[in-house]
Amino acid sequence: MAAFATKQSMLLLSSSLLLLIGVSTGSFYDNFDITWGDGRANIFESGHLLTCTLDKISGSGFQSKKEYLFGKIDMKMKLVAGNSAGTVTAYYLSSKGETWDEIDFEFLGNVTGQPYVLHTNVFTGGKGNREMQFYLWFDPTADFHTYTVLWNPLNIIFLVDGIPIRVFKNNEAHGVAYPKSQPMKIYSSLWEADDWATQGGRVKTDWTNAPFSASYRSFNDVDCCSRTSVWNWVTCNANSNSWMWTTLNSNQLGQMKWVQDDYMIYNYCNDFKRFPQGLPTECNLG
Ligand SMILES: *[C@@H]1O[C@H](CO)[C@@H](O)[C@H](O)[C@H]1NC(C)=O
Repeated sequence: MAAFATKQSMLLLSSSLLLLIGVSTGSFYDNFDITWGDGRANIFESGHLLTCTLDKISGSGFQSKKEYLFGKIDMKMKLVAGNSAGTVTAYYLSSKGETWDEIDFEFLGNVTGQPYVLHTNVFTGGKGNREMQFYLWFDPTADFHTYTVLWNPLNIIFLVDGIPIRVFKNNEAHGVAYPKSQPMKIYSSLWEADDWATQGGRVKTDWTNAPFSASYRSFNDVDCCSRTSVWNWVTCNANSNSWMWTTLNSNQLGQMKWVQDDYMIYNYCNDFKRFPQGLPTECNLG
């Protein structure tokens, strides 16, 4: 926490500068680099729309120019429509190195009319095994919906259209590692994983539907703590009333309960068979 406080004061300084020059957000040109797919990912509408495509030869993907160390990051996404079986659209934050941290959204496609699975995970120090999976309460291919990672020193909150679906709390006091010192970039990609993605791999990708396409809009990282290089922190609003110290209020806890009661299809914390030695520590901490 001490190291964090120092960084925070430094960030506050640069944030006041930023307010003066104004923040430009949202442009995919400004915020992302297309990193693979040989022309299969593209930016349109002067930077307001990005699409990734997948065909039999390759998928495609992009990553943020900046690295983040805490923030509230929104992305609107519209997923592969129709028969998307075997396709995976991954959207995640990750740091580098062998003991990396990672916060994952992964969307597993399905045959026409059958539900997508939203797969989530949290890695700390290179270790994951914290999967939670959900159906969505809407068709994620019909329209754009907002997927948010709120990551602060207290907790990581996964939100869909502003509704919290999952929280990973800082339980360092109980010996559970928490991501708080390794900056992460944002990554996204559309790829093919028909050996496992849809109905456990039983349903294969139908390439007659290719190319498959996922779209992105309205990226928002306003006030996030980010940096363009190791010493160049660009923006951070660490006011006590900002996202930086947000935890779920009782209304949001109610919303999350609704989602977890009605739409959650897998929770590692309920998987006693998988952890015969006992559930991971955080599962018993409420
Ligand atoms: C696809 O649809 C089947 C049948 O409704 C369902 O069991 C499965 O969870 C869905 N999603 C995936 C990714 O397989």
